[in-house]
Amino acid sequence: MGSRIIGCGKALPQRVVSNDDLAEFVDTSDEWIYTRTGIKNRRIAIEETTTDLGCEAAEKALGRIEGGWCLDGETIDPASIDLLICMTISPDMVVPSQAALLKARLGLPNAVAFDLNAACAGCIYGLDVASSMLELSAFDGRRVADGGRRTRNAMKRALVVGSERLTRLVDWTDRGTCVLFGDGAGAVLLEWRDDDPGILASFLKNTDDVDDVLVTPNFFDMSTFPFAPAATARGELSCAGMRIDAPDETVAALRAQQGGEVLEAMESAFIIMQGQAVFKFATSAMTEAAQAVCERADVPLSAVKCIVPHQANERIIRYAAKKLGVSEDLFQVSIAEVGNTSASSVLMALADAYASGRIEEDDPVLLVGFGGGLTAGAILFQA
Ligand code: COA
Repeated sequence: MGSRIIGCGKALPQRVVSNDDLAEFVDTSDEWIYTRTGIKNRRIAIEETTTDLGCEAAEKALGRIEGGWCLDGETIDPASIDLLICMTISPDMVVPSQAALLKARLGLPNAVAFDLNAACAGCIYGLDVASSMLELSAFDGRRVADGGRRTRNAMKRALVVGSERLTRLVDWTDRGTCVLFGDGAGAVLLEWRDDDPGILASFLKNTDDVDDVLVTPNFFDMSTFPFAPAATARGELSCAGMRIDAPDETVAALRAQQGGEVLEAMESAFIIMQGQAVFKFATSAMTEAAQAVCERADVPLSAVKCIVPHQANERIIRYAAKKLGVSEDLFQVSIAEVGNTSASSVLMALADAYASGRIEEDDPVLLVGFGGGLTAGAILFQA
């Protein structure tokens, strides 16, 4: 018994932006970007919203529109979806949640919907939370069958969607980050099955980002609060444990401590990253998560037929393959055309793996990711 993946889809915005396009306005080159990251193009949502992208990916996973992968080739009844989790760091709104917006647009009358933020490892966390809720519901169902009481919502099908318009959080003057990210969505439909193993094991881990190697601050505007001291009127800033009420001397002290560039980026709520530190974290986090999940599932890594990693940098994937002692050919690498799409990335790459036919029924498949937080995780499932 377990949560089985029965549908998968992805969606991309129309606008393709190449490395050469970026070189027109930042000091970079196709050669630098491609050799350091494996990225050639990325999609940028000009017209599309996070809701548009998430909806399209979900419709494909549900078999409502062409282009997705569906285990039984059927269109799924919308009333049968009990849960919708959306992983995103770039929702269209704070309230309603991105998941609530998707639920309404998709017309899922019975779905409970909420968002989950685990940055780029979001889809691993989202799949684990969704499958845990399905599993608890199945146990509850058994209790009810034995004459006991229901203690929670009955859930059999869960839609897990990653949708990002990450390029809204990118500082287009910072060549160290703006070349890396792109927009897109991926979706998976999980179904609880009494006679299928589905997800075999999971592993999640957070490591405190004490050096702020990957942060995207939030900007809170206090300017309409009448009792705010004058100094607060320009806004309140919070970043990685720092709360700045912004009197001039604090700003000056922070500027001296962090550097003007960092403070300006914080005020603009952009992605701020120390690339090399993230690279180092990523390779060890992926290795640890992949090994741990195989151990938990009691499946040797050598038996895994396909590894779908977070698509942050092709070099990170190659390093991880080397550290794990497995062939690079085992990895689904989709980064060249889409860049890093954060919480959507693993699900989009999984959709590519299904579309190309490289995942066959019963194959053990490993999903592994990492991200800001610092989050890391892996899921091992039987296809
Ligand atoms: N084009 C040209 N030059 C660039 C550049 C760009 N887009 N971005 C940075 N550079 C320059 C730097 O300014 C630096 O120049 P300098 O030596 O004159 O100071 C030089 O290239 C090397 O920079 P560095 O940061 O050391 O490069 P790197 O080899 O570490 O590669 C990353 C940078 C970002 C590609 C790499 O560190 C990385 O992928 N890190 C992980 C990022 C990640 O995965 N983030 C998301 C996590 S979810």
